[in-house]
Amino acid sequence: MEPNTIINADTIEKIYGSGRNALRVLRGVSLSIDRGEIVSIMGPSGAGKSTLLNVMGCLDGFQSGGLSILGRELSGLSVEDLSNFRNRHIGFVFQLHNLLPDFTALENVMMPLFIRRDGRAEVRAKALSVIERFGMLDRIAHRPGELSGGECQRIAVARAIVGKPDIILADEPTGSLDSRNSQVLMSTLFELGRENGTTIVVVTHDAGIASLTGRTITIVDGSIVGEQ
Ligand SMILES: Nc1ncnc2c1ncn2[C@@H]1O[C@H](COP(=O)(O)OP(=O)(O)O)[C@@H](O)[C@H]1O
Ligand SMILES: [Mg+2]
Repeated sequence: MEPNTIINADTIEKIYGSGRNALRVLRGVSLSIDRGEIVSIMGPSGAGKSTLLNVMGCLDGFQSGGLSILGRELSGLSVEDLSNFRNRHIGFVFQLHNLLPDFTALENVMMPLFIRRDGRAEVRAKALSVIERFGMLDRIAHRPGELSGGECQRIAVARAIVGKPDIILADEPTGSLDSRNSQVLMSTLFELGRENGTTIVVVTHDAGIASLTGRTITIVDGSIVGEQ
């Protein structure tokens, strides 16, 4: 493995169900992503994109093959060790924002830093500076129910990057937004990622967003069929 490699998947097989009902969702997927790379994953619905992202994010297991992240081999780890590893190194963004409804936008962005027990004043300052980059300073006191879908998604992305994780995995993060909002949101994320040296992997159907990334991997029917 190259010293710059941050994610290395080696011939991963993921099967749902068993016997007659077995569904091979990842068919020997191998891929290697360098530290600081910004990569998009495209492919038809049902191809296995979310499954691959969840495997890379230690949210889901697999039957055979190897996965190493930050040089650490993960296939033998317990569920608890995997979740500790994930919390320390990986941030997620999903298509539906998953913000906590009873907390304000600012509190939602502060949350990952509180969990790490950073000091309150420092947490607030960091959260505000990221929120500013997403153009949401005038909405910090709003709860998710008082924000538009696009605004919620900006806050969710701010929350994913505020703690400067090594890796951000985003699964169709702009799937519910119009293309202009999507482009602005993703270019801000990629800009912050480049500043912080964050590795970002984004699943998207939007060729405009894929064109903002350094590399696009195409998956069809559980296999990588192309890279460009
Ligand atoms: N928990 C599950 N149990 C059984 N089959 C699943 C499960 N999750 C996904 N699948 C199946 O695996 C295939 C790939 O799903 P997914 O990774 O979500 O595709 P994509 O994100 O590319 O649309 C689909 O055929 C889907 O129905
Ligand atoms: Mg999916």
